[in-house]
Amino acid sequence: MAARRILVAITGGIAAYKLPELVRQLVRAGHSVRCITTEAALHFVSPLVLQSLSGKPVRSRLFDPAEEDGIDHIALADWAELMIVAPATANVLARLSYGLADDLLSTVALATKAPLLVAPAMNVNMWNHAATRTNVERLRERGVHFVGPDSGELACGWQGEGRLSDPAVIAEAAEFALRTATLEGECVLVTAGRTREPLDLVRSLTNRSSGKMGFAIAAEAACRGAEVVLVSGPVSLPTPSGVRRIDIESAEEMRSAVLRELARSTVVVKAAAVADFRPVAPSKRKIKKETLAEGEGWTLELERTPDILAEISREKGDRVVVGFAAETEDVIAAATRKLARKGCDFIVANDVSHSDSGFDVDSNRVSFVWPAGEVETLPKLSKRAVAGEILDRIEKLRGGAA
Ligand code: PMT
Repeated sequence: MAARRILVAITGGIAAYKLPELVRQLVRAGHSVRCITTEAALHFVSPLVLQSLSGKPVRSRLFDPAEEDGIDHIALADWAELMIVAPATANVLARLSYGLADDLLSTVALATKAPLLVAPAMNVNMWNHAATRTNVERLRERGVHFVGPDSGELACGWQGEGRLSDPAVIAEAAEFALRTATLEGECVLVTAGRTREPLDLVRSLTNRSSGKMGFAIAAEAACRGAEVVLVSGPVSLPTPSGVRRIDIESAEEMRSAVLRELARSTVVVKAAAVADFRPVAPSKRKIKKETLAEGEGWTLELERTPDILAEISREKGDRVVVGFAAETEDVIAAATRKLARKGCDFIVANDVSHSDSGFDVDSNRVSFVWPAGEVETLPKLSKRAVAGEILDRIEKLRGGAA
């Protein structure tokens, strides 16, 4: 995503200590970041750290001749393309909901025309209190974006909803709030992660896919304004903002979910690592080695799983269908054969022989292989950047179809 101007407004909650990490991630993503804090936030986070990470002075007071010198609070409100309020305490939610303007944060929030993203964090009872529920509803109705809070152990000792979302999740929600509309009107169906084919009640055949590639595509498509459905195997990743997620286990379940969603999809990207084979007769119980003779091995009979990509490519119509190929040698030749076999619009060939690309890492090395034989090879990129490159090509194909 292009660099944007993001104002991070930090309030006085214990979770404020996580905010420097959010600032770091936004700056690393190429954004220009400014921070403001409430007076109370200064008990929990150092302005010097925020200034070092953002490279910009940090403001805390509404009226301060020294601070108003460089950029006054209205100019700050006008500068922002997105304002993030975190950790948003119950008090701050109430103040935002009622439109108070008696400190720097609330004044800037009222003056800015930028979208507001709020990441609440508080005691679970405060979060569930009718007053807070009303304030949250009122803010949502006004178009304010929310991320979290998460459930878990809270700083106050209680368990439940009230934890600040991880900085990476807030950064993701920020990208979503800043989305462009280049894929508006499109419905993008993405598959991600591994499938798991049972051998017996406790064992399965699976692979090393973490889901990172497919989740990056889903997140990027949502940021471009598409309706996104993500069919995911068992992975431990948070669902990107604006994405509807369907969890599946086996190739057969993935096929059913994909076929159910296919009619309304205008784009399908199959980034999942689907098992090619599954045990013919999985046991409903744990197979015990004592039931085998001493020294005897266990011979598994496997059968092919349905080839989902080939099946949907046969009924492609106007839809854009993109497949992946995970290869360790003769990457382009193997991907070219796969493209001919599967019949999709293009194949994203990834070389998974390197430890810093392919499975379970944040970067990837890919080539786009086209039916006419053209091959575009990209340098090593983050999976999010690869997702952007894939969607740029899909946008061109959809533009062509329209
Ligand atoms: O999840 P990560 O850790 O981020 O790793 C990303 C990735 C390496 C898994 C991803 O980039 C990738 O390459 N995904 C496809 C892996 C794969 O299964 O490739 P394949 O060459 O076996 O399959 C070719 C294509 O057919 C794929 O689009 C696959 O989704 C599809 N397929 C395969 C088998 C099957 N039964 N049905 C299918 O639809």
